[in-house]
Amino acid sequence: MSRKKPSKEWLQTQNKDPYVKQARESHYRSRAVYKLQEIDKKDSLIKPDYCVIDLGSAPGSWSQYASERIGANGRVIAVDILPMESIDGVLFTQGDFTDEAVEKAFLQQIGADRADLVISDMAPNLTGIRVTDQARSMAMAELIYDFCHQALKPGGDLLIKLFEGAGTNEYRQLLREHFDKVMTRKPGASRDKSREFYILARSYRL
Ligand SMILES: C[S@@+](CC[C@H](N)C(=O)[O-])C[C@H]1O[C@@H](n2cnc3c(N)ncnc32)[C@H](O)[C@@H]1O
Repeated sequence: MSRKKPSKEWLQTQNKDPYVKQARESHYRSRAVYKLQEIDKKDSLIKPDYCVIDLGSAPGSWSQYASERIGANGRVIAVDILPMESIDGVLFTQGDFTDEAVEKAFLQQIGADRADLVISDMAPNLTGIRVTDQARSMAMAELIYDFCHQALKPGGDLLIKLFEGAGTNEYRQLLREHFDKVMTRKPGASRDKSREFYILARSYRL
């Protein structure tokens, strides 16, 4: 199977990026870890013994980081369409989260105890058509919100990646119906020119 060659521009950006360099020199699988780390340091997100759900986990740096933070008595349960190399203490399912059967099996793994934290770095495959991509991203975000009702403990938190555009303000309003605090985060490792940002919704209530 032929692989698409990375563009010259992409390679130049990667080579100049201090977070890429830092990730290459560390054991983390992706520069994405520095986004989660920055938010965790600022907001004390991940605590020992937590059950953390990682949606869109591959190649695995968020799962690596979360499993280190929760320690031996915590759990990380992760899902991705793509395969992910195993990580100690992480229970991984390969499948499409938007597929009902996959979501159901995933919920069974979480069990009745529910999770303390849901983190989602998922982004749907881009078509390049901005309106379509934004609509797909918001549809996925709504699915994740519904998932929280079944997966989160009262008092639990959600960290979710979104893209600036239509529907994000309405989504904040939706979250406020079941979370005490809804905040926006744009960590340093999230590239300025990228429309991505994170919403941190804290203290879930039924
Ligand atoms: C930016 S990457 C996540 C990087 C990850 N946080 C890390 O630190 O390694 C986004 C991931 O979301 C996954 N993804 C996108 N749509 C998905 C879906 N419907 N179900 C499961 N995973 C999905 C992609 O396969 C991709 O691996």
